[in-house]
Amino acid sequence: MAGRLNGKVALVTGSSSGIGQAIAVRLAADGAAVVVNYRGSSEGAAKTKQQIEEAGGRAVVVQGDVSKMEDLQRLIDESWTQLGGCDILVNNAGVEKGADFWEVTEEDYDMVLNVNLKGVFFLTQAFVRRLREAKRPGRIVNISSVHEDMAFPHFSTYCAAKGGLRMLTRNLAVELGSLGITINNVAPGAIATPINAKLLDDKPKLDSLLKNIPLGRMGSSEEVAGVTAFLASDEAAYVTGSTYVVDGGLMVDYHEQ
Ligand code: NAI
Ligand code: BGC
Repeated sequence: MAGRLNGKVALVTGSSSGIGQAIAVRLAADGAAVVVNYRGSSEGAAKTKQQIEEAGGRAVVVQGDVSKMEDLQRLIDESWTQLGGCDILVNNAGVEKGADFWEVTEEDYDMVLNVNLKGVFFLTQAFVRRLREAKRPGRIVNISSVHEDMAFPHFSTYCAAKGGLRMLTRNLAVELGSLGITINNVAPGAIATPINAKLLDDKPKLDSLLKNIPLGRMGSSEEVAGVTAFLASDEAAYVTGSTYVVDGGLMVDYHEQ
């Protein structure tokens, strides 16, 4: 398996922690040079870079907030300047904020939609423009969620964003196919990362979630990274417009209580 991304450059947003960190490490292990992006945690990004380098890989760190339009173009430009291109874009950065629908503020709506959907939209646009100019193919993998499809009560902003991402991916598969660019979503279920810190600390809630997961446990970031690396590689050359669910069976486990 090692080496299937040799010669490729990958940009992974929000790769200073959790799933993004595992993806950056995995893509580097498969041979890609990686742009490690972070918004606030330079220590987390340095840790990702260190893990990559200790395993013999190559990484650069670039700060950037995906909810800021001016940072998006810069992320792509830095990848081309520092690593000679950008062949793989992993839109991983994400945030969620729980609230009853009737309590959601405009500020929270903007925060969640700007990171999880608008940022993906315009970073992908900047990524595609450079590839189109250079007449080079590419791979886009969006870290979506089971909630691109499945209700998540009290997280209406998150569902609106991830549901939007689902249709964006399908639409772009059609628009980008002739450019040799594939785009797919990975939809994780419950993965043990900082985004789930509250849940991990709430045993009754956690136990009730685990009862709905056929495999009986939360997933790991590395398990999401494995599927992402596959979609980023030539082994997935004929896959586009799809969502790969990585959820231990959560989505298919409908049952009467
Ligand atoms: P996390 O909180 O560890 O990672 C999110 C990352 O995004 C952090 O590194 C954070 O700094 C970064 N980020 C947030 N806003 C940003 C911004 N404006 N600009 C740049 N980076 C920003 O949580 P996790 O779980 O690793 O989340 C990664 C992705 O996986 C998210 O898109 C999330 O929605 C998705 N996901 C997570 C699941 C889980 O159960 N952990 C399940 C389904 C999807
Ligand atoms: C959310 C997590 C949640 C998981 C399963 C993810 O998209 O970010 O908070 O535990 O879906 O519901």
